[in-house]
Amino acid sequence: MRKPILAGNWKMNKTPAEAVEFVRAVSPLVTCYPQVETVVCPPFVALPAVAEALRDIPIAVGAQNCHWAESGAYTGEVSAAMLEGLAQYVIIGHSERRQYFAETDESVNKKLKAALAHGLVPIVCVGEDLAQNEAGVTDAFVSGQVRAAFAGLSAEQAVGVVIAYEPIWAIGTGRNATPEVANRVCGHVVRGTIRQLYGDAVADAIRIQYGGSTNDKNIGELMAMTDIDGALIGGASLKVDVFATMVRVTAGLYPQD
Ligand code: PGA
Repeated sequence: MRKPILAGNWKMNKTPAEAVEFVRAVSPLVTCYPQVETVVCPPFVALPAVAEALRDIPIAVGAQNCHWAESGAYTGEVSAAMLEGLAQYVIIGHSERRQYFAETDESVNKKLKAALAHGLVPIVCVGEDLAQNEAGVTDAFVSGQVRAAFAGLSAEQAVGVVIAYEPIWAIGTGRNATPEVANRVCGHVVRGTIRQLYGDAVADAIRIQYGGSTNDKNIGELMAMTDIDGALIGGASLKVDVFATMVRVTAGLYPQD
């Protein structure tokens, strides 16, 4: 069985002090559920303080982005190399990065390779916008994003990547995909594309999250779906009680043996 992974994407929220306060408050509420992998993704400036606060605590730390180059003349950027020791995960190709910061399938692929080269687990985001959804091109578009992101990756590398299916029309809108729709795209489209690329073993092992207006009310029905192995959580991950409830509800669906 694939281990579920709930990752809080804090986006541009929380100062370092607020971030530390959050993880101190949430850790006793979630570390009692080892069957769920819990990740927090603060802004870059909070990573050192959060990594330190979680030093002996089994909550993983993720960055929200990285650059593909090792170092160099890229003002304002942070390389995957610089994240080593501070983060175990890195979100790559979030739709807000693609939309507001001109990230492309090609840059996503380069970032994915850089993250893997530095021992980080990429959480690579894919998902269609409202117009694409309404035009009925979701499957072709999302499958194309997956293929482009994984271009040149070996099966050994691919199996360790986490994929987040986040329909853009569901992000921050309060309008989540229904569990059935989310499960169909996660399973048939995303896992199906990985199956075509890498075969059954990789497809059956790779973890696929759903993201987009998840909360403590809808997480249970989403996580109960066969092809949804976790969630990338935005707004709801900013509140200690809501995030902790989401971990607890998920844990209830994956009892410890
Ligand atoms: P949301 O964001 O949960 O606030 O919709 C999800 C995301 O963008 O990762």
